[in-house]
Amino acid sequence: MVDRFISEFGSLEKDDFRTLRGVEEGMKTRDWVPVGDVSIFSGLPVDEVEYRLSRLGGLDLVVRRSMDQVRFRLDFGGYDVLALNVLVSRGVVDSLGGELGVGKEAEVRSALMGGSEVVLKFHREGKVNFRGIRRSRDYLGDREHFSKLYIAKLAAEREYRFLKRLYGEARVPEPYSWNRHLIAMEKLKGNELSRVTLENDPEFVLDLILDEVEKTFKLGVVHGDLSEYNIIIAEDELKIIDWPQAVETDHQLATKYLKRDIKNVVKYFKKKYKIDRNPEEIFKSIVNQK
Ligand SMILES: Nc1ncnc2c1ncn2[C@@H]1O[C@H](COP(=O)(O)OP(=O)(O)OP(=O)(O)O)[C@@H](O)[C@H]1O
Ligand SMILES: [Mg+2]
Repeated sequence: MVDRFISEFGSLEKDDFRTLRGVEEGMKTRDWVPVGDVSIFSGLPVDEVEYRLSRLGGLDLVVRRSMDQVRFRLDFGGYDVLALNVLVSRGVVDSLGGELGVGKEAEVRSALMGGSEVVLKFHREGKVNFRGIRRSRDYLGDREHFSKLYIAKLAAEREYRFLKRLYGEARVPEPYSWNRHLIAMEKLKGNELSRVTLENDPEFVLDLILDEVEKTFKLGVVHGDLSEYNIIIAEDELKIIDWPQAVETDHQLATKYLKRDIKNVVKYFKKKYKIDRNPEEIFKSIVNQK
């Protein structure tokens, strides 16, 4: 999906971005933004905004609806180019590469900066099951109005914050920059644990993972979605990715998440490598050592 919007990126002008930001600003208080509001928030005259909006609509960067009056909103396409524009202007990325993973919660792709690889993670939380998220995610606070874009932005912010906090102490990719729902981070070598078969000493790898769980717990963080899909293994390195749902150890869900993280990993190594470990004992030893 990013491909389509990114291909338009080069053709966008300064006033297109101003218009997109005007729609974004209007969406802080309503789902659909009238043209007059876009004009006020962007600082552009109404006729210029009308021209820009119809152009951006043609590129699928804004969505138009005729209600009592014509109104607009941003979708992920427009949000993607706004975020990307900021990272380009910060000098974090200068060209885009291929796709690394597309799923429900994120679109991950490689990019280049001065010849070296960077990973761009476009968060997509809120795209599916918006209502479920609305009910369950405590990070929305008591704000009354929010769009799915806002939910994705909060998820990216959280992930970036946890990566920043852990990087240098735990085995996580280095976070470079963050804007809106987009994070730029280190491109890791290797593959998801689920896709490799550990030929020698899988037990050593299991211990490495459990050491990481313990270390991050000591640093005050629980991952909350640990599994063979969020562990990246290279020949000489292991990293844990995908941190937006992480919680502090004093969070009400921390115990539940920690137990589940340990269980997921232990279960996977039992099934695939016939290694028998007791998740309950591991949990106790981690919690008691803190
Ligand atoms: N820093 C990175 N370096 C290399 N590959 C990465 C990196 N981050 C993510 N990936 C790849 O992209 C995939 C998805 O990333 P991640 O797990 O962070 O997102 P997700 O929320 O699980 O997304 P989805 O719902 O699409 O699975 C990963 O499983 C991995 O293959
Ligand atoms: Mg993942």
